[in-house]
Amino acid sequence: MTFDFETPINRHGTDSQKWQKYAGRDVLPMWVADMDFVSPPAILEALHRRVDHGVFGYARPTDSTVTAVVQGLAQRYGWAIDPAWLVWLPGLVVGLNVTAQAFAAPGDEVLSLSPVYPPFMTAPKNSGRVSVTVPWAGRTSRWEIDWEQLEAAVTPRTKLFFLCNPHNPLARVWRRDELLRLADFCARHNLVLCSDEIHCDLILDPQLPHVPTASLGADIAARTITLMAPSKTYNVPGLGTSFAVIPDSALRAQFVRATAGIVAEVTTLGFTACEAAYSHCEPWRQALLATLRGNRDFLLEFLAREMPAIRVDAPIEATYLAWLNVSALGLPDPVAHFEQHGVGLSDGAFFGAPRGSHLRLNFGCPRSVLAEALRRMKQGLRG
Ligand SMILES: Cc1ncc(COP(=O)(O)O)c(C=O)c1O
Repeated sequence: MTFDFETPINRHGTDSQKWQKYAGRDVLPMWVADMDFVSPPAILEALHRRVDHGVFGYARPTDSTVTAVVQGLAQRYGWAIDPAWLVWLPGLVVGLNVTAQAFAAPGDEVLSLSPVYPPFMTAPKNSGRVSVTVPWAGRTSRWEIDWEQLEAAVTPRTKLFFLCNPHNPLARVWRRDELLRLADFCARHNLVLCSDEIHCDLILDPQLPHVPTASLGADIAARTITLMAPSKTYNVPGLGTSFAVIPDSALRAQFVRATAGIVAEVTTLGFTACEAAYSHCEPWRQALLATLRGNRDFLLEFLAREMPAIRVDAPIEATYLAWLNVSALGLPDPVAHFEQHGVGLSDGAFFGAPRGSHLRLNFGCPRSVLAEALRRMKQGLRG
């Protein structure tokens, strides 16, 4: 079966955050992380069937939905989870906020590696916890952890480590040995490890496996909250369906207590899409990965040939997000500059990068849209 990743979809005038930002302006939105692709046919068919049923009461996952998730994790990653470990959530950002509240007290510190997806830093702050970031060490071939600085950042108030696996925005896949070293770091300092694995099904390099952090062994599983979702991969973030996997019953109870009365339940349509995603969409996912690989290569070749002052400092191993180093352009406000030339990008400063140094570009769109965005960016660098 072939799938269409080429025909541009008109999202103008819809509820899309991505497109509403520039409503009425000729700006191509390449910012927030959802894709301009239609979701897999199997998800659309399942949703149509569920809508035709016509009754939308309070929802609980059916056994078949839970089985789809459990089997999906076993087949893809060899990670055997007990269904009892699952806690359903309406979003991963919710999961980050709940984790901060459940496992750190006000004033306690939550560590992460910056640059990083902004809610890693805002979730602790939202509830009076403190976000402490350790900068990644840039290397020519790939980003590395600065282990010395990481050790030095730990204080008696450090309670949690937020890991992004794979990493947004650096598009970096973690290797088993690195995860083992991180697990050891968390064990030595008695930290709860929260592993956000929302991008795990989007590894572009076929040689690189995704290693769920909690699959490394019983000790690390006992201190890990894993956050996952079908939302990024199957382009259903608007359906608000995610889950935490928490093997340790005490940690799970603590987490669930922090959700009580505040966190909304997952909806009927969300469960439907989730089950279809993990049960019937593997051919679509493989076709998506081929498309994203093509877009990544197109982007990198275009930059190297036409805009060499914009650099991508390390391989894009996963996600549909490119971390562009624009320092050499010397622009005081690169986001505003490219918006004026018709392209809407994410500001690296929100991810913790120095102002004016980086932009994030979302290449999860038809190739023609990406090509037009790059043409406009090049135009913006002329004059
Ligand atoms: C690492 C990471 N975590 C979480 C999210 C958002 O999750 P949700 O929409 O489920 O809150 C994103 C979205 O870009 C992300 O990149």
